Amino acid sequence: MNRPDNPPIDPALDAYLHSAEAQLLSELCDWLRIPSVSTLPQHKEDIERAAGWLARKMTAVGLENVELIRSGGHPIVYADWLHAGSDAPTLLVYGHYDVQPADPLEQWTSPPFEPTVRGDDLVARGASDDKGQLFAHVAAVQALLATSGSLPVNVKFVVEGEEEDGSQALMDYVPAAVEKLAADACLISDTHMLSPQQPLIIYGLRGMWGGEITVRGPARDLHSGMFGGAVHNPNQALCELLARLHDEEGRVTVPGFYDRVEPLSEQERAALARVPYDDETLLKESGAPAAWGEAGFTVTERIGARPTLEINGMWGGFTGEGFKTVIPAEAQAKVSCRLVPDQDSAAIGPMIERFLAEIAPPTVEVSVRTRVHAPATVVPLDVPEIGAASRAFKRVFGADPVFSREGGSIPVATVFQETLDIPILLMGLGLPDDNLHAPNEKLHLPNHFRGVRVGIALMEELNIA
Ligand code: BES
Ligand code: MN
Ligand code: MN
Repeated sequence: MNRPDNPPIDPALDAYLHSAEAQLLSELCDWLRIPSVSTLPQHKEDIERAAGWLARKMTAVGLENVELIRSGGHPIVYADWLHAGSDAPTLLVYGHYDVQPADPLEQWTSPPFEPTVRGDDLVARGASDDKGQLFAHVAAVQALLATSGSLPVNVKFVVEGEEEDGSQALMDYVPAAVEKLAADACLISDTHMLSPQQPLIIYGLRGMWGGEITVRGPARDLHSGMFGGAVHNPNQALCELLARLHDEEGRVTVPGFYDRVEPLSEQERAALARVPYDDETLLKESGAPAAWGEAGFTVTERIGARPTLEINGMWGGFTGEGFKTVIPAEAQAKVSCRLVPDQDSAAIGPMIERFLAEIAPPTVEVSVRTRVHAPATVVPLDVPEIGAASRAFKRVFGADPVFSREGGSIPVATVFQETLDIPILLMGLGLPDDNLHAPNEKLHLPNHFRGVRVGIALMEELNIA
């Protein structure tokens, strides 16, 4: 990495980071080797190992009160360093050590849990989402404590192991731990920048409803020659029902879905229009042959500021290799909705269920099961901590951040904001082409090590905010 003429952080710290880079990378790789997939029960032990690994690393860098909190779901890792004095602000750093499933495995160019450096990139599941991004801030604490023995602010880490599965344990825990987690701001690096040169601060995240739709037909699987044409095939019925969840204009048809959606103000539309992202960027980043979506909105608006309904998976009958002439007894789909302010995330499942019950033919039975729900997040930008975040980005990347809303969800973000009553700083260190949740997830290493410096600069800036 080029050393800038004016290091954005103290030269001794900068030198420390240069000398520690290889070791830090090798440690991150050790962590990434643990397949901590939260949603698959067979990885429960890996989740434990990943939590334990983080707790040991936190202890080694000099964080204190390191603890594995077991409050129902996967362990929450807590650690703090509270010696900056009672006048100094306290920064709560949030992240997640769980990862998405790695399938489809055959599309990875190197195995997902064998981290591989390719050019400037580190390829592995979790490299960017979110082990790499969280690790940058642990490394920032390490550098400061190793070189000066102290931090500019008090720091608390809270790192969960089920963000990719809905964050239920942490959402339940936060209200019961308001004092323990008390802070002045919450730093979350679990989003991305616009490019390696252009930092981005996110001021809105979409909420989420996720669940399963089941269509039941005959009492058991049937021979399609003996019954085909005489009973309604649940796979077909499921497709017919799912096809009615959107209209031709790309709008969701579920009654009530848009009732509480806050319309976009002219001011916000103008601001979103300034984000340098358009159909062309979308096609390049996604590889899709054409854009699609709700009529009357730009891609930036559709991704960040409008609610959606997606079919994430569907199955039924025979899906193995070969051929089997069968009418399955049931068919299922996994569906998720991205929600915007002020939609009620708890109301979406029942809404979908009512609509499906109304339009379902008498030939099948339909049911809906909710797995996760969390409201959308809106971050106020007129707080001094956002100024500190902007200055920290500027010092390290040489550019002021742009501000945008983001389509993804971080279920616990709103809980921090409302229950702890603190601003959240969504300072992503990833890149749009990191392949989150997809094969060949990667971390752009120059960004990662700049991210460590951003963490240091943020602590310094918060102390003078
Ligand atoms: N880091 C993402 C959220 C994200 C993705 C923010 C892309 C910005 C851009 C997070 O790990 C995530 O994937 N969240 C899930 C939450 C869900 C499982 C409840 C999501 O958004 O699908
Ligand atoms: Mn994430
Ligand atoms: Mn994710």
